Amino acid sequence: MTHLALEMTESLEERCNRILRNMEGSLMARDRVGIQDFVLLDAYTSESAFLDNLRKRFHENLIYTYIGTLLVSVNPYKELDIYSKKQMDTYMGVNFFELPPHIYALADNVFRTMLAEFNNHFILISGESGAGKTEASKKILQFYAVSCPSTKLLNNVRDRLLLSNPILEAFGNAKTLKNDNSSRFGKYMDIQFDHQGGAVGGHILSYLLEKSRVVHQNHGERNFHIFYQLVEGGEEDLLRWLGLERNCQRYRYLVQGACAKVTSINDKSDWKTVQKALSVVEFSESDIESLFGIIASVLHLGNIKFDTDSLGYAVLNNNPEMHWLSKLLGIPTQVLQQGLTHRKIEAKSEEVYSPFSAEHAVYARDALAKAIYGRTFNWLVGKINESLVNQDSSRKTVIGLLDIYGFEVFHMNSFEQFCINYCNEKLQQLFIQLTLRSEQEEYQMEGIEWEPVPYFNNKIICDLVEEKHRGIISILDEECLRPGEATDLTFLEKLEEKMGGHPHFVTHKLADQKTRKTLERGDFRLLHYAGEVTYCVVGFLDKNNDLLYRNVKEVMRQSKNAIIIHCFPSTEPESKKRPETVVTQFKNSLVGLTDILMSKEPWYVRCIKPNEGKQPGRFDDVLVRHQVKYLGLMEHLRVRRAGFAYRRRYEIFLQRYKPLSPDTWPNWKGTAEEGVLCLVKHLGYKPSEYKMGRTKIFIRHPRTLFATEDAFEVCKHELATRIQAKYKGYKAREGYQRQRDAATKIENCWRALLARKERQRRAWAVKVIKKFIKGFMTRNQPTNVENREYLAYVRNSYLTRLKENLPETVPDRNAWLTPPPIMREASQLLQKLYIRHMVRKYVRSVTPQRKAQLQLKVLTSSMFKGKKENYPFSVCRPFLDTRICEEDINLKVLQMIQHECIKYSVPVVKYDRSGFRPRLRQLLLTQTAAYLVAEAKVKQRIDYGSLKGVSVSNLSDNFLILHVTWDDIKQKGDLVLQCDHLFEALTKLSVAANKHNSVNVAQGSVRFDIQPGKEGFVDFKSGQESMVYRTKNGRLMVESTRTKAR
Ligand SMILES: Nc1ncnc2c1ncn2[C@@H]1O[C@H](COP(=O)(O)OP(=O)(O)OP(=O)(O)O)[C@@H](O)[C@H]1O
Ligand SMILES: [Mg+2]
Repeated sequence: MTHLALEMTESLEERCNRILRNMEGSLMARDRVGIQDFVLLDAYTSESAFLDNLRKRFHENLIYTYIGTLLVSVNPYKELDIYSKKQMDTYMGVNFFELPPHIYALADNVFRTMLAEFNNHFILISGESGAGKTEASKKILQFYAVSCPSTKLLNNVRDRLLLSNPILEAFGNAKTLKNDNSSRFGKYMDIQFDHQGGAVGGHILSYLLEKSRVVHQNHGERNFHIFYQLVEGGEEDLLRWLGLERNCQRYRYLVQGACAKVTSINDKSDWKTVQKALSVVEFSESDIESLFGIIASVLHLGNIKFDTDSLGYAVLNNNPEMHWLSKLLGIPTQVLQQGLTHRKIEAKSEEVYSPFSAEHAVYARDALAKAIYGRTFNWLVGKINESLVNQDSSRKTVIGLLDIYGFEVFHMNSFEQFCINYCNEKLQQLFIQLTLRSEQEEYQMEGIEWEPVPYFNNKIICDLVEEKHRGIISILDEECLRPGEATDLTFLEKLEEKMGGHPHFVTHKLADQKTRKTLERGDFRLLHYAGEVTYCVVGFLDKNNDLLYRNVKEVMRQSKNAIIIHCFPSTEPESKKRPETVVTQFKNSLVGLTDILMSKEPWYVRCIKPNEGKQPGRFDDVLVRHQVKYLGLMEHLRVRRAGFAYRRRYEIFLQRYKPLSPDTWPNWKGTAEEGVLCLVKHLGYKPSEYKMGRTKIFIRHPRTLFATEDAFEVCKHELATRIQAKYKGYKAREGYQRQRDAATKIENCWRALLARKERQRRAWAVKVIKKFIKGFMTRNQPTNVENREYLAYVRNSYLTRLKENLPETVPDRNAWLTPPPIMREASQLLQKLYIRHMVRKYVRSVTPQRKAQLQLKVLTSSMFKGKKENYPFSVCRPFLDTRICEEDINLKVLQMIQHECIKYSVPVVKYDRSGFRPRLRQLLLTQTAAYLVAEAKVKQRIDYGSLKGVSVSNLSDNFLILHVTWDDIKQKGDLVLQCDHLFEALTKLSVAANKHNSVNVAQGSVRFDIQPGKEGFVDFKSGQESMVYRTKNGRLMVESTRTKAR
């Protein structure tokens, strides 16, 4: 059964138990890293529990913890891997409480609220010196730089916003005992956003720079970073041009704290960073030249020594610095010299120059150094502002970042600490007002009852300092301005007079016995919100007056240095009106700041310093407890908790927790408020645990929210699984559907393609066939368009067929493929050519022996072709050299005729001349004669000379009659012979006897001589069968079957 189904059926009690069980598990997990939001701390009134949580998290490197939307940040004093781009991405656009606390979460929330509500915000970063305010403000700025939508143009602004920091830090921060990078000025920075959230511009307000540091540093502290950066990192050429040596020890203004070199600061690389930043923020070459001219001038000024003349007045002897000052400030040496050693006094209508004592000259010199530096710093801020200005006049919303010097207490505290701590006092006041006010307003707006929470209001201290006519500032100003001999001590007396009895003010005189021991006579002590600070009055009047003699200003007006000209405008020295004192200016600027802040929505980052030693991993309980106290964190928490620990807009609450009730899941049809009501009823909230406001639900106890949140955690997993399953199914179906659609589509396309191809093929075929038919029909016409292809085809086809059906032998030559009419002529030519080719081939293949044989055959042919009936049959029978081999001839006969050389022998049948009896004989042909041989006897020798001729019939018999002459008396008469190899024998004979023309092919009968005067006849005829017989009239009848010619 699924969790949801389970939920629907189980009882409320079972549900609560299950939620509790889940909750316990989660609580344990949560316990391990403390609680992410103090509002959820059960023992919310216990400072120890608060501290425990902070410590526990700190040791796990979890430096951020919320109190509602306020972020508490503990300085880790080490690099943590939590500020990467990936982390920024993680926090972008995510609900505040969904991820572990982070400064990015706060920054993102401010940004999104600004965009959503289109109003202005500011982030107040507070904490004592070294608590991490400046770092926090940088992290926020970096987050915006990365997360805001950007364009090329916006990137420019973004880079300038980011890089304004290193410049201002170089000129306005310094190493103090509390912090190696302590801000010695207050900074409020507006980042301006367009309606899409792009950072389009910015503006910086700076507050009271601690100028005294330029000329004096306490032990263990340094001057402003820029001096060391220039001396350590400046290029050789630059230093040469400025007349500086690469050795801080050479400069009086840099060595008073006896710690010009600090391991934690890398001046060289910081110099490079500042150089780059200056170029990005569009400082021109000449600006940079003038700027470092001034920085070097301050160092030279510090090294100026005054001698005393006989009257005790200050004189300048052999000061090489004067040369450099004159060069860098562009003021003639004489003029400078006069300005540094004299003061102009206006007596009635006269102007008199009064020389300084040596001591006074040093004072005036330092005053000038401070003035130059302080004014240059203001110029620098102005210059940065110029580069950040947003040209577009359409309405913008802003996020302000306030990073001001933190509350600080040193062993010796002076006017500067007084101002800094007063400023922190004011910000604390603002914090109190805003947090209480907003809380109160929220309850009122939502129609919820509100019970006030007691808290320490530091207004009493603010009043002590700033109250008109009665406050310390007023008394200080009075002392500064009044004629007569006012001194720091008279100021102290006035204070004692006016402030006596104030619970936050005490002096040596006013103190009780015990306290008095801790106070010097020249001290006064204020009990600030953040602790006691004892101020030494020495220097208060001077610093407050910040006197720069008028003639010195005039000297500066003659400068050729562009920044100095800008910083000492020509109108100023003329003004007779006393300028406002420093503290009054500061007070007024803080009023201005308060106004700026009050018009915006506040967000808070409270920074805490874990130990005084700047050490990572050390959590000093006493120190942190003190800060927790004075930062008002406990009160803030109590205020948060007094009413309701949690509040959420109905829509958001419903959206998040709606899966917990079957009625609200997955969609609620009614209003969000009704939905929330339905949900909390389903969850079993007791009426005392929550209140329904106008737009929000207020939950009193964290436990309630825990339970809900944990139930949601459990439910979320199951929901996630179900959603995942559903989604996977949906995805798979979608994938399948897509594939199927794709397959159908491909199939259709493929079919269409095939069909198109088929149609084309058919169309082509029709065309071809039509052409073929047309061609066929016009095949006998001369070649024209219509039959050209057909004829080509016919030609091709005929030639192809012909190639495959060529006669193989010369005798088959007439078996020639019948050509189509158009090929007739070609065919004839080809046939002729081919036959010739065959013949040639044949002839070439004939051997000499065969040739000789064939020549014999030719001879035979010439004798018998067309004359004797059975000649054709002999054609295919090859002639042999002989038909009787020598062994078969009787030896005697051989011996007898050997000398004549036997050319050919063949068995014959001899018919007697008178009785025609047949007798088997051998006919041997030699070179000179033919022999008829019977066994060992030569029956008859016919010398070729006596051979008159040879007769054969024209029929198919094998008879031959050799006619002999009677000249040879040894002759017995003509020979009637039958020979199976008639043509062969006769051919051989005619060759041997050289009697080609003596063969007579007779018809009917052949006469032959039996003996002189006695003749016989052989008759030839064709009959049914072959036979030889003697006719009644004594003639030899040779009958032969008729053979058909092939
Ligand atoms: N989030 C942080 N991560 C790592 N180091 C930090 C962090 N915050 C502060 N630090 C360390 O603490 C030092 C002091 O911090 P920072 O300069 O921000 O203090 P501050 O509150 O501005 O002090 P001041 O009032 O003197 O200007 C930093 O130089 C840095 O070394
Ligand atoms: Mg700072």
